[in-house]
Amino acid sequence: MKLSINGQMHEVDVEEEMPLLWVLRDELGLTGTKYGCGIAACGACTVHMDGIAVRSCQIEAGMAEGSEIVTIEGLGTPDILHAVQAAWISHQVAQCGYCQSGQIMQAAALLAETPAPTDDEIDLAMNGNLCRCGTYPRIRAAIRAAAESLREG
Ligand code: FES
Ligand code: FES
Repeated sequence: MKLSINGQMHEVDVEEEMPLLWVLRDELGLTGTKYGCGIAACGACTVHMDGIAVRSCQIEAGMAEGSEIVTIEGLGTPDILHAVQAAWISHQVAQCGYCQSGQIMQAAALLAETPAPTDDEIDLAMNGNLCRCGTYPRIRAAIRAAAESLREG
């Protein structure tokens, strides 16, 4: 099947039912997307599907055909960071880092839809992304900063 990932078409020979997460990591080597729980309970595997944050452990490869998938590798580049990635660095959000690509993808989808989120909207959107290191206060601060920098352009 053909999958559009980070703006590039990939031909993959996998079962329709294979979780998108396996395709990304094992077939395409895009290991920035993490496996945490496998049951939609942690958010570590979050990617964008047509701009919406989804749990790639729950999306079957066949369901992703015809959609634009973006992973953390396609969000920004080292030279041109996405505003969320830049804010993550300036706020030194990451600790162990394991949950962080999912957190960043979730936050980027939130800001694409809601450019000036309230604290409640941030909490609601980020509620399903767990961080064992407890970086939540820094995540919220970085999202506020990213929202501001996106609004300022
Ligand atoms: S690995 Fe998909 S939500 Fe936890
Ligand atoms: S930074 Fe370690 S799990 Fe979130």
